[in-house]
Order: sequence, then structure tokens, then C-alpha cells
Amino acid sequence: MGQEAESPPAMSAQDGRALRNLLGHYPTGVCAITTLGTDRMPVAMIVGTFTSVSLDPPLVGFLPARSSSTWPVLRQSGRFCVNILSADQSTLCRQLSGKGMDRFAGVSWRPSPLGDPVLDGVVAWIHCRLEAISEAGDHDFVLGRVQAMAVESGGAPLVFHRGTLGRVA
Ligand SMILES: Cc1cc2nc3c(=O)[nH]c(=O)nc-3n(C[C@H](O)[C@H](O)[C@H](O)COP(=O)(O)O)c2cc1C
Repeated sequence: MGQEAESPPAMSAQDGRALRNLLGHYPTGVCAITTLGTDRMPVAMIVGTFTSVSLDPPLVGFLPARSSSTWPVLRQSGRFCVNILSADQSTLCRQLSGKGMDRFAGVSWRPSPLGDPVLDGVVAWIHCRLEAISEAGDHDFVLGRVQAMAVESGGAPLVFHRGTLGRVA
């Protein structure tokens, strides 16, 4: 019988950096959640936490940090558009997740049927009415009811894995 490899020690869930690092091994897609503010200016927030929830009724969700400065604008709007970014939109992703800058500078978009920004070149978009919000630790879980949607390019999506933006090989 061969010698068994020693398994690495289990880590403590209280170690936030270790938990973040471990979760980074799980790949996610990347979406820009958009809406218009009360001043009718476009806002966007990049999330890796977008998920499908239910087909009947049609529900999707995402988790904004409670510390986010964009989440209150989305919440006030009561509706949002999920833009699924394409593999060649990593620069756009960095711009839309930057702090203290005009995130929409040079960004082309058109309004969805319900008025929120659909960004040029995305894989697909899903327009939602905000259905429910649940507290989830230092994040909120936002449930959206799908109102309209379309596949745009239908191409390869942008993927986030271990701190790097890339595409599925
Ligand atoms: C790939 C990627 C995924 C992200 N996922 C989330 C997320 O799911 N929830 C979140 O609150 N912030 C997420 N962020 C951070 C936000 O995009 C944003 O930088 C942060 O919320 C600060 O901006 P804000 O104050 O406008 O929200 C992500 C950033 C990147 C680059």
C-alpha cells in the first residue's frame, strides 16, 4: 500500500482573508447591474454574485455589499438591468468597479424597454423589478423579478477566478 498524502489542515472560517481567498477558487461570471438615479444619470455596479433563482416565477438575484455606495441608488430606483459582460469587456469591468470616477465616461449604452442602461457589446441583459431584499451578513440579498430580457452578442462571457478576469479556456 502506498503512503497516503497528508491532507492540508482545515482553515478557520473566522479568518476573513482565508475565506475570501478560498472563495476566489470558485469561478463566477461578471455582470454590471445598472439603473438610472433620481437625476436620470446612469449608475452601474459590477457583481460576481449574480445568480438564477427561479423559472416560475422568473426570479434572479445578486448580493451587494451593505457598504456599497451604488446599492442605495439601485434600491431607491426599485428596478435594475443585469448586463452579462463579454470576455472582451475586462477594461469596462475595471472602469465600472472603479471608485471616485465617472464610471460611464466613454461608455456606450441604450435604454432597455424599461429605461435602464443596456451596455453595448454585452452577452445578454435581463431587466428586473426589485422584488425583495434580505439581510445577509455584511451583504444584502436582492431578489429581482424578470420583466424583459434579450440575448445580445451571445458570445463568450467574462469570468472572474482567483482575482483574475479572463475567459473560459
Ligand atoms: C469581478 C468583480 C466582482 C464583484 N462582485 C461584487 C459583488 O458581488 N457584490 C459587491 O457588493 N461588490 C462586488 N464587487 C465590487 C463592486 O464592483 C464595487 O467595486 C464596489 O461595490 C465599490 O463600489 P460602490 O461603492 O459603487 O458599490 C465586485 C468587483 C469585481 C471587480
